[in-house]
Amino acid sequence: MKKFFIAPSILSADFARLGENIQEVLDAGADMIHFDVMDNHYVPNLTFGPMVLQSLRKYKISSPIDVHLMVNSVDSLIPVFAASGADFITFHPETSSNINETLNLIKKYGCKAGLAVNPDTSIDHLKRFFNKLDLILLMSVNPGFPGQKFIPSVLNKIYQLNQYIRNVFPNILLEVDGGININNFYDIAQAGANILVMGSAIFYAADYRKTIQFMKSKLSILC
Ligand code: DX5
Ligand code: ZN
Repeated sequence: MKKFFIAPSILSADFARLGENIQEVLDAGADMIHFDVMDNHYVPNLTFGPMVLQSLRKYKISSPIDVHLMVNSVDSLIPVFAASGADFITFHPETSSNINETLNLIKKYGCKAGLAVNPDTSIDHLKRFFNKLDLILLMSVNPGFPGQKFIPSVLNKIYQLNQYIRNVFPNILLEVDGGININNFYDIAQAGANILVMGSAIFYAADYRKTIQFMKSKLSILC
């Protein structure tokens, strides 16, 4: 049975009251929290690190937390993110000097492992790593900032990847990140996405519960 997860990206949350704001979207029905880590090198923006994640766990945020690393040299961050309470750790292949070893490291520290693929990057050369993956993240904007427009060509990429993994690696979750909103989420889910990351479309919504429940009721048609 098809399962969908709504994953608000806290890049668009109110940082002055982060724990409370995250609890609000979870109470409204969000399934997991997407935690965008940027280092101002791999992407031209700077966000937050493992100490913020640890504070959220201390604040009793208990949902799965999906850490999306957009940083150079990922390996040194993996043990500390795992210790801080990450459930999923996803990285961009070009930020690792040895993709297999980075995936092994994520597993060794007890987290689920994902690879993130930029809109213009082909997935073919990554297929050899699929047997180690719990998740594949398809970027539908160029990484770095919230509030960008979904790149339409990614829809076919989602469809093609879903066709492939459903037959060969049925347990891999397909996550899509960037420019998802109330108008396009259904098409993206229908193309094959399991995890829908949404920053501005959720945190800037007037009513979190109405927005999330509307999407969940539509998604239940696809289950
Ligand atoms: C972009 C981030 C996304 C971003 C999504 O680099 O990885 O998670 O916050 O924001 P929206 O949903 O506003 O495009
Ligand atoms: Zn992200």
